[in-house]
Amino acid sequence: MIPSTRSVLGLFGSPRKGGNTDILLEEFLRGCAERGAVCERIRLSGLRVGGCRGCGGCEKTGQCVVEDDMQSVYEALERSDRIVMAAPIYFYNVPAQTKAVIDRTQALWTRKYLRQERAGQPPGQRPDRRGFFIGVGATRGKRLFDGTIQTMRYFFDAVDVEFDGHLVYGEMDAKGAIRAHPTALKDCCEAGLNFVNSNG
Ligand SMILES: Cc1cc2nc3c(=O)[nH]c(=O)nc-3n(C[C@H](O)[C@H](O)[C@H](O)COP(=O)(O)O)c2cc1C
Repeated sequence: MIPSTRSVLGLFGSPRKGGNTDILLEEFLRGCAERGAVCERIRLSGLRVGGCRGCGGCEKTGQCVVEDDMQSVYEALERSDRIVMAAPIYFYNVPAQTKAVIDRTQALWTRKYLRQERAGQPPGQRPDRRGFFIGVGATRGKRLFDGTIQTMRYFFDAVDVEFDGHLVYGEMDAKGAIRAHPTALKDCCEAGLNFVNSNG
């Protein structure tokens, strides 16, 4: 396998440091790094990012009018070849801090769909950009992750990356419980290895 120089952005979506999300995302990024990718990490709950105001300002300029830490997230989202979002389930979606970041990518959706500013390249010449989601939750209902996966589908679409896949784990509640899972850490590392050079 040829080593990669691709850039991977890891979005840490849990406010609980060292918890199940962090453990899985670090395993995933370890796999990416083994393939030679350059990994960048952003802890979303450590940012000062307010919710989308729905003001429509981005429709006029393509830029979000709110000046906060989201400006650096936009830059990271735009320069990365691969984006992996990891988050726990809070009330059947992602934590509020992570959802605020997702809602604020409305500015990118606006650029792509309303302003036709889609990377400036015709289909077939667009950069190969891909996204992946890792989720954890405490309960075991079959549909625990359905809504969040739908949210991820539209988040990655707004950010203009292909949604490449997901790994989700229910029945994980205590901090670090995921370490006792028979396959999760290995699954995430392997998914990271494959993600770097994945082309669909
Ligand atoms: C505010 C809050 C809401 C939660 N809501 C849900 C939920 O709706 N469904 C669920 O299965 N687990 C829920 N959980 C449990 C977390 O998803 C679970 O503990 C997860 O393993 C935490 O991941 P972390 O260690 O990465 O933070 C909730 C936890 C908190 C703190």
